[in-house]
Parts: sequence; C-alpha cells; structure tokens
Amino acid sequence: MLNLLKTTTAALALTAAAVIASPAIAGDAAAGKAKAMMCAGCHGPAGISNNNMWPNLAGQKEGYLASALRDYRSGARNNAMMSGMAKALSDADIANLAAYFSSLK
Ligand code: HEC
Repeated sequence: MLNLLKTTTAALALTAAAVIASPAIAGDAAAGKAKAMMCAGCHGPAGISNNNMWPNLAGQKEGYLASALRDYRSGARNNAMMSGMAKALSDADIANLAAYFSSLK
C-alpha cells in the first residue's frame, strides 16, 4: 500500500512537472487541431473563413497568432466574439492553436 502510494505520488509529481513545463515548449499542432473544432464555425475547418468579416488563420505566423490570442484574453485587444473565446484558453491551448493554424497552408 505504501509502495503504491509512493508510485502514485511520483507519477503525479511527474505529470505536474509536464503540465508546468508545457507552455515553455513549442506548441503541439495535433493538440491544437483538436481544440480548433471550436474555432471552425467562424474561421473555417481548415483556417480559411467563408465570409468577409472573419479573418483567415491558415498559414499566419505562429508568434502573431499566439500574441493575438493572448491580447484578446487579457483585453488588450477587444472583440465581442474573440474575447469570449480567448477567455477559455490556457497558455498551452494558445501555443497549440498557434502551432496548428500556422502549419496550415
Ligand atoms: C463566433 C465567431 C468566432 C469564433 C468561434 C472564433 N473566432 Fe477568432 N475571430 C473572429 C472575428 C470576428 C475576428 C476578428 C476580430 C477583430 O477584429 O479583432 C477573429 C480574430 C481572430 C484572430 C486574430 C486574427 C488577426 O489576423 O489578427 C485570431 C488569432 C483568432 N481569431 C483565433 C481564433 C481561435 C484560435 C478560435 C478558437 C479557439 C477562434 N478564433 C474562434 C471570430 C471568431
């Protein structure tokens, strides 16, 4: 029982370390793709929007996408549609989404 507890605690510590470390490492485009389902209604399933009001994201610079999302989240950039979306994103989500959309052509 004590061993099991020790193993579980060690596993939890490793998981926590991985979660804390993740914003520092490059975004994961595959994880971003899964998260991008919630963006597809406006920005299109492949990052190309189907109307004039919503910008294309495909192929945009990764750093620009990430900073735009952080700005919507912080309120530095304000848009009724995007501010609400960005509030729900973690730092890792933003890195992953930026990696995904910038990888699209
Ligand atoms: C309800 C529609 C809608 C949804 C859903 C939506 N967006 Fe947007 N997005 C917009 C609009 C409209 C703009 C332009 C806002 C502005 O003028 O600042 C925008 C702008 C952006 C920009 C800045 C683009 C630029 O060229 O500066 C990024 C990045 C972005 N969205 C990412 C996302 C991501 C990632 C998601 C999903 C998590 C998402 N959006 C979901 C409507 C939407």
